[in-house]
Amino acid sequence: MKRVAVLVSGGGTNLQALIDAKQRGEIPNGELALVVSSSPKAYALQRAAAAKIPAIVLDRKAYASNREMTLALTKLLKDEKIDLIVLAGFMYILTSELIEAYPNAIVNVHPALIPSFCGDGFYGLHVHEKALAYGVKVSGATVHFVSEECDGGPIILQKAVPVHANDTPETLQKRIMEQAEWKILPQAVCLFCDDKLSVEGRVVHISE
Ligand code: GAR
Repeated sequence: MKRVAVLVSGGGTNLQALIDAKQRGEIPNGELALVVSSSPKAYALQRAAAAKIPAIVLDRKAYASNREMTLALTKLLKDEKIDLIVLAGFMYILTSELIEAYPNAIVNVHPALIPSFCGDGFYGLHVHEKALAYGVKVSGATVHFVSEECDGGPIILQKAVPVHANDTPETLQKRIMEQAEWKILPQAVCLFCDDKLSVEGRVVHISE
């Protein structure tokens, strides 16, 4: 059984999708072992409590820099014998220390079809504002391994979602969450825990 840590900053709907998938038996080889929140106020903490998952607050304000926070986080995750780290709406950039400690064992869900609408400044609703302003007719979500480059690591799964003429950033965000993020994130976690993912260069192979 792989031990999975889920890192959150806000509402935690992707955490909830993982909890629900686990309860439905869809992640047989993974245990949701720990939730780490960058804010004591994140609603995700209530979701963790309701699911009886241990949770820790790693308050960014308590650290001098992202690097200091990353070092504390890396030690915590190693002490907890975590095998897979899931960034589920985690809003801080983690530095190289964590990525080196967990090569191809950190995944992120991004609310667009990478390499579109990603990188610095593309998070949360901003992603959907920019997709609508560009006029794309299709958007979606991506789950990828985390590398040093923001949103630049090997892609595991993607799912496309139509953009409607009358969409607002909020309606597009909701459709992408419901139809893409909440589906492909649990699927990617299941594939990792089943040892079905291998990385060659920047290409992820998924075995049967
Ligand atoms: C999700 O849409 C996730 O894809 C996005 O933040 C939201 C968090 O929602 N992540 C990013 O933008 C990362 N660049 P949640 O807390 O309800 O899961």
